[in-house]
Amino acid sequence: MSLEIEERKGEASLGDRLHPEPRHEPLIFERSGAGKVGYSLPPLDVPERLAIPKDRTRADIPGETEVTEVEVARHFTRLSRLNFSIDQGLYPLGSCTMKHNPRTNEEVARLPGFAASHPLAPEEVCQGTLELAWRLEQALIELTGLARVTLQPSAGAQGELAGILMVRAALAKTGNPRRTVLIPDSAHGTNPASAHFAGYKVRELKSNARGTLDLDVLQQAMTEEVAALMLTVPNTLGIFEDRIRDIAEIVHAKGGFLYCDGANFNSFVGVAKPGLMGIDVMHMNLHKTFSTPHGGGGPGSGPVAVVERLVPFLPRPTVERRADGRFALDFDRPDSIGRLRTFLGNYGMFVRALAYIAAYGNRIGDVARGAVLNANYIRAGLQRDYHLKYDAPTLHEIVFSDKRQGERGVHAIDIAKRLMDCGFHPPTIYFPLIVPGALMIEPTETEGKVGLDAFIAAMRSIARECEDDPEIVLRAPHTTPVRRVDEVAAARNLVLRWRPPV
Ligand SMILES: Cc1ncc(COP(=O)(O)O)c(C=O)c1O
Repeated sequence: MSLEIEERKGEASLGDRLHPEPRHEPLIFERSGAGKVGYSLPPLDVPERLAIPKDRTRADIPGETEVTEVEVARHFTRLSRLNFSIDQGLYPLGSCTMKHNPRTNEEVARLPGFAASHPLAPEEVCQGTLELAWRLEQALIELTGLARVTLQPSAGAQGELAGILMVRAALAKTGNPRRTVLIPDSAHGTNPASAHFAGYKVRELKSNARGTLDLDVLQQAMTEEVAALMLTVPNTLGIFEDRIRDIAEIVHAKGGFLYCDGANFNSFVGVAKPGLMGIDVMHMNLHKTFSTPHGGGGPGSGPVAVVERLVPFLPRPTVERRADGRFALDFDRPDSIGRLRTFLGNYGMFVRALAYIAAYGNRIGDVARGAVLNANYIRAGLQRDYHLKYDAPTLHEIVFSDKRQGERGVHAIDIAKRLMDCGFHPPTIYFPLIVPGALMIEPTETEGKVGLDAFIAAMRSIARECEDDPEIVLRAPHTTPVRRVDEVAAARNLVLRWRPPV
């Protein structure tokens, strides 16, 4: 078994200049050879003890991979060059916010006082660690305008679950449990999953022709059976719900909570405060808004901010600053929904996020302004070539469709594959579902004009190819080490483990 690498066919033009010759790279197991040594320990000078008794070891493990240090270094270096990363070029994956990870953040996260701090260390010796978590909470309180924030959730989706569990606990406490959560069809896909996981029935609400929530539809659906409306702001079309205060009023009038999926807070952070919009609970993705690495680069972190009424239900422990200025964990929270994870959260992400916030200081609104400007620059650059189903003002991302190219038999997947020949990561495709053949593009604020112009030029050139020579797009990518994979077979027939050939 090896990475399947096809010869280039010679017809690619755009990306040929950007990519070196494809190479064959065997798996590390296939490089293994008896007796090769990568690292050796000095001879044992104490009695040998078997850590795992023989009868407990598995017989079906093929043995160790024996390779030299040089082979290891070269193998992984070559693999890393076959991959695409944000450090190589624009990564316009809509709804994912693949932005540059500033190196200063990486440096501070590696400071031994943070990186080597033991999660079970007594409070007296980890005051700095607790203070940083407390300071990040204060910063997020300031930015959201809400009462308190939990940093525990390990991802946006876990933040959603935490938020909805707090809503459920608050309603249960008043003796008024409810059964339904309303979710617009423009919401992120994790929202219905989280509501369902928390034990609610989900009712979908249709968007209007502008791509926003239809207030008449909401008015009709909002009954005293509804626990919450989960609103993605801005929604997955990159459109801001400009009637959000009216929406909050309708939800509150029936005793429900307004949940905001603020994963994409990067589109209005420092410009508008959710707490002033009538939002009761909102999660944010540190790994999107505050530039912490993700998507293979690091773990997520999805803090949740809540209004005063939900504070008693926050996950425990909370980090508190005592009257004498010292920091402590508070476990004594009888109404808490409990722990979401073993320790405080993905702590390294807290350090990076606070570093990002501190670097901007009171100019943090520039994050949002930059993200919105860049998305609109791409919109202006591409709207003559690609169809835009919803024409409302764009915030941080823009959703085109393949409608025009579809007339030539070319679809979103083909355009995405062809972009790889041009040296770009493909955008998100076929999401959101309310745009057939969606091409969802999010440049983020960390992309400069040169990168944006190159991306626009590539997309326009592909649009021209769709007119003049659709075949070249239909057979793309031409320059990547692996051509089109059978995605259905890959999903249905997972092969996650290498076995030696028999
Ligand atoms: C709007 C929105 N909500 C929720 C999520 C889920 O976040 P996570 O992938 O961290 O679980 C995402 C992820 O990109 C998102 O864009």
